[in-house]
Amino acid sequence: MKSFSLLPALVLAARVIAFPSYASLAGLSERELDSVLPTLGYREPAPPPGPLKDTSAKLVNDKAHPWKPLRRGDIRGPCPGLNTLASHGYLPRNGVATPVQIINAIQEGFNMENSIAIFVTYGAHLVDGNVITDLLSIGRKTPLTGPDPPPPAIVGGLNTHAVFEGDASMTRGDDFFGNNHDFNATLFDQFVDFSNRFGGGKYNLTVAAELRFQRIQDSIATNPQFSFVSPRFFTAYAESVFPINFFVDGRRNDGQLDMDAARSFFQFHRMPDDFFRPNGAKSAQGIERVFLAHPMLPGGNVGQINSYTPDPTSADFTNPCLLYENFVNQTIKGLYPNPKGKLRKALNTNLDFFYQGIGSGCAQVFPYGRD
Ligand code: HEM
Ligand SMILES: *[C@@H]1O[C@H](CO)[C@@H](O)[C@H](O)[C@H]1NC(C)=O
Ligand SMILES: *[C@@H]1O[C@H](CO)[C@@H](O)[C@H](O)[C@H]1NC(C)=O
Ligand SMILES: *[C@@H]1O[C@H](CO)[C@@H](O)[C@H](O)[C@H]1NC(C)=O
Repeated sequence: MKSFSLLPALVLAARVIAFPSYASLAGLSERELDSVLPTLGYREPAPPPGPLKDTSAKLVNDKAHPWKPLRRGDIRGPCPGLNTLASHGYLPRNGVATPVQIINAIQEGFNMENSIAIFVTYGAHLVDGNVITDLLSIGRKTPLTGPDPPPPAIVGGLNTHAVFEGDASMTRGDDFFGNNHDFNATLFDQFVDFSNRFGGGKYNLTVAAELRFQRIQDSIATNPQFSFVSPRFFTAYAESVFPINFFVDGRRNDGQLDMDAARSFFQFHRMPDDFFRPNGAKSAQGIERVFLAHPMLPGGNVGQINSYTPDPTSADFTNPCLLYENFVNQTIKGLYPNPKGKLRKALNTNLDFFYQGIGSGCAQVFPYGRD
């Protein structure tokens, strides 16, 4: 019996030894935090960078940022933008970065506008990153980079389901079907098919609107756990316009993405040869057009397919401040109910940075006090 009572301690010890510096602390119990926190070095987070001074189009697939194939142990995930920035060395090529590195990379490499860059980066970091070490993993070790032990949820990074990552992606499957992060060739074929049918062979806003709706209908019809509430409700529509705003060469700037370029980003994390970033800072321009073509209420299936039920507690496009407030009050507070000491301080600092991405229209909320 004695050895049996030792088991929890041994399991915990194994988890501590295995705890990577980039793994998220979100959702750990007080006991787990007590054993993990002393093993991690605290790194004071630097404030988010400001906007680029020069936002003109320029060559970004340049000599200083060559695409390189994955190495053993490199991490990639569901976001083709971040995967590409890592494979070109705008982010550390291993796929683990600080929020400041991510903001600098998405601004420099893709000309993402400063406030949305801050908002998505700290939103993701607060739920999927490690706020003590200031590191965020953009996913997990890929199949190409060698055997990866079955990952416990704690090494999910951006792959972690239902906090930032969500259902009805264009080129990644729903988590319910077992892989929410790797490029899915069948889904990309549908992306091409829709681009042929609605865009004359290019992905544009007309295609984005139809494909967004199709992916939602697919999930309603096949995924009993389909969830389409805030923040996923917003990110799904935003990500539908990102390929148009960020993956079209800045010298063309015509909102028409060709299929070779699309495949290059989505599948190979690679900028086309001679690629120029967009001309001028971009965010989610076009999102209303995609939404209004087939408006949806936020909601989800309720345990069986074809049972889509609106959720009136979710934020939607009429109340964007609720996106921020619910994310802080419910998502973050739920993952960190009672942080103390350095952890509380790190959360508060990152919450302040996150709020800088919102603009002055929404009141700041302070789940852990103001200091
Ligand atoms: C200019 C910068 C960025 C671009 C061009 C970009 C592009 C995209 C696109 C097109 C998708 C949709 C993939 C699909 O539906 O198949 C996506 C998904 C995603 N992006 Fe990004 N992204 C950018 C920045 C970021 C940042 C800063 C973060 C977080 C730190 C992020 C996290 C994610 C995540 C977690 C997903 C997966 C969502 C899901 O499918 O559930 N992205 N991104
Ligand atoms: C890709 O997505 C299709 C359609 O949802 C699915 O049937 C298939 O199993 C997925 N493939 C992989 C390798 O996950
Ligand atoms: C998308 O392409 C199709 C085919 O060329 C065109 O009819 C449609 O107007 C385009 N939509 C946008 C928003 O550019
Ligand atoms: C969030 O919590 C604050 C208190 O910390 C409260 O004033 C505010 O009304 C809450 N907002 C929502 C949407 O729950």
